[in-house]
Amino acid sequence: MPDRPRVLVTRRIPDAGLSLVSAQAEVDLWSEELPPPRELLLERVRGVDGLLSLLTDRVDAELLDAAGPGLKVVSNYAVGYDNIDVAACRVRGVAVGNTPGVLTETTADLAFALLMAVARRIPKSYDFVREDRWQTWGPMTLLGKDIHGAVLGIIGFGRIGREMARRAQGFGMRTLYFSRTQASPQAEAELAATFTPLDALLAESDFVSLHTALTDETHHLIDAAALSRMKRGAILVNTSRGGVVDQVALAGALRSGDLFGAGLDVTDPEPMRADDPLLALPNCLVVPHIASASERTRDRMAQKAAANLLAGLRGEPLPDPV
Ligand code: DGY
Repeated sequence: MPDRPRVLVTRRIPDAGLSLVSAQAEVDLWSEELPPPRELLLERVRGVDGLLSLLTDRVDAELLDAAGPGLKVVSNYAVGYDNIDVAACRVRGVAVGNTPGVLTETTADLAFALLMAVARRIPKSYDFVREDRWQTWGPMTLLGKDIHGAVLGIIGFGRIGREMARRAQGFGMRTLYFSRTQASPQAEAELAATFTPLDALLAESDFVSLHTALTDETHHLIDAAALSRMKRGAILVNTSRGGVVDQVALAGALRSGDLFGAGLDVTDPEPMRADDPLLALPNCLVVPHIASASERTRDRMAQKAAANLLAGLRGEPLPDPV
């Protein structure tokens, strides 16, 4: 590795990883709460050997050219890397890394929390109490949907989708899944999950949870047509990427009551503004992309991102290459 290589870290990440990077490299840290504006990012990246990026930074040909030929590695502080033009990195010989594995369970926990919160109308119930509308025990008050015994349809059966299936077992749900490749018979048996074509999954599931990467193929996978195939009264959960869902169509399905509710950790665009039509709907719960946001997981993501960055600077294979 060059003597004290220069790296740009585009936001303050936990010390568990940042300290590893600063022990070995000259760090230019963008320490503001908001991401660096594009012009400043292009300026600050000039001449660096490594870039530790976040999903809020677009790493494309323009940025790679601004960095120049010395750039060896882009280490994304996320498992998703739809913000990175991986082909443009490859052409320039720039290694790309991400942080898989360490956020699997934490993300599935949040997906399940959204599922439960929407099914049992927790946010609305909380408002009900806070707004002093709780007058008595009501036979028809705030009725929701049962989780136990329901059918869960998982779209995208990678690490996180599988953890979702594991959680569903504990709740006595029946699990269907759809993904590009079918899981092994052992995995299917262990997770009690049945491979099901997409249309059938949409038609049979009481809950549909999205765990697929955002690609050209999955952009608006859940559009008006897909929503119309879902069971009336079903619930949609999205912890993948906002672009997988057509939000205008989703608002329509929630407004008409075709869907009982939706729980979204991710939106398109992000951040979602407070005047977004989805936020006016009482059956839509939105949280600000926090699925991996536990203290321990964010530390572990930082360590992984640091390990990728440092390996790339040394010209070694990344522990977690994209
Ligand atoms: C990821 O890692 O891709 C999540 O969206 C944020 O942790």
